[in-house]
Amino acid sequence: MEREKFSSRLGFILISAGCAIGLGNVWRFPYITGKYGGAAFVLIYLFFLIVLGLPIMVMEFAVGRASQKSIATSFNVLEKKGSKWHVYRYFGMAGNYLLMMFYTTIGGWMLAYFIKMVKGDFAGLDTEGVSAAFGSLSTDMPQMIFWMILIVIIGFAVCSMGLQKGVEKITKMMMVVLLALMVLLAVRSCTLEGASEGLKFYLLPDFGKLAEYKIQEVIFAAMGQAFFTLSLGIGALAIFGSYIGKDHKLTGEAVSITILDTMVALIAGLIIFPACSAFRVNPGEGPGLVFVTLPNVFNAMKGGRLWGSLFFLFMSFAALSTIIAVFQNIISFAQDMWDWSVKKAALINGIALFLLSLPCIFGMTIWSDFTILGKDIMGFEDFLVSNNLLPLGSLVYLLFCVTRYGWGWKNFLKEANTGEGVAFPRKIKAYLTFILPVIVLFIFIQGYWSLFQSL
Ligand code: PHE
Repeated sequence: MEREKFSSRLGFILISAGCAIGLGNVWRFPYITGKYGGAAFVLIYLFFLIVLGLPIMVMEFAVGRASQKSIATSFNVLEKKGSKWHVYRYFGMAGNYLLMMFYTTIGGWMLAYFIKMVKGDFAGLDTEGVSAAFGSLSTDMPQMIFWMILIVIIGFAVCSMGLQKGVEKITKMMMVVLLALMVLLAVRSCTLEGASEGLKFYLLPDFGKLAEYKIQEVIFAAMGQAFFTLSLGIGALAIFGSYIGKDHKLTGEAVSITILDTMVALIAGLIIFPACSAFRVNPGEGPGLVFVTLPNVFNAMKGGRLWGSLFFLFMSFAALSTIIAVFQNIISFAQDMWDWSVKKAALINGIALFLLSLPCIFGMTIWSDFTILGKDIMGFEDFLVSNNLLPLGSLVYLLFCVTRYGWGWKNFLKEANTGEGVAFPRKIKAYLTFILPVIVLFIFIQGYWSLFQSL
């Protein structure tokens, strides 16, 4: 069967950016930044995006484009006879499922909040009322299952319409709306009275503030966020490399995608922090930031119902664009492994992902006493993906591309540099071979270290 391609370069860039731009940008990034004291954290994060994230993104695209396959079979195509790189496919595939097993639930909350805002459900509630509303959603099993199913259905329905007619067309539209909404919301937030305090917190680095935390904890959080936000390590981007032609060098494409991703994260902060300071709420309270703090802000704001609705539409599109991208990857595993049709792969995986998403919801409700390594089920799934598979998988891609035991530096460079545009710098080979792997390994070990310390 002929492999379907994207209809345009813009399609490829926006879909890859859609995969990268997700809850990691609009939910995780603002609350981690709030937690670790603002601007100084942002600088460290930007540093890791460039030195760590960008080269690995080019490698994923190169493996995808050269093999014309998803992670399910891409290593088999490129590796030397007798080597075992392809074993990583099971981990990579597991990573995509595990990520979606909690992402569908949080994505469902975003959709739920959008509808609630439109209906005006929060209007007139005081601070406690808003907290209680979030508490009742995050403990209401049938309601959460309802929104999760809706997300799964939307995601697989879009994918089953095909790469060009479904994924590309719909994600492109969502991304354009998302970018427009983002600018509108940021302008509104920054022009609120009292916005400047929040802007200062967010934009003026205060390294003294970092001293309140353990420095290795901050660095670790920044590195983890860099992997997560760029979708690295489990072939979630590699797949889109397999849908493009050879007319552009891959470094330039990776730079565009990284810039888009970073812009959205940074501007999400420009929406959230000024609004928090304008209404005197603390941005450092963690994961509840978006669901508890912000509805309060919208309640206090003139026209808050409209702005709140637009904000959660923005959030929902960010989540959905990632979900559709990862579902596309999941569907293509089945196509690469067993030659299934798109429709068959979408239906079977839809049912599978619905079932696989249940434990996360049970973990917040009927199984709330159950913990693994001190985490609830969602926390554990997130830990497996963010602290294990993403750094480990990035290491696999990295070593595969730079060492002669894998695909090798020459082959990688040739693929990355085919076409027009910015070339991958040859000079950084020593850095990629000897320094970067050590950094990545460090993240991995550090993840375990802090876990065992916290137990
Ligand atoms: N980058 C996505 C986000 O920011 C998360 C993700 C991680 C997606 C890994 C795919 C693979 O929400």
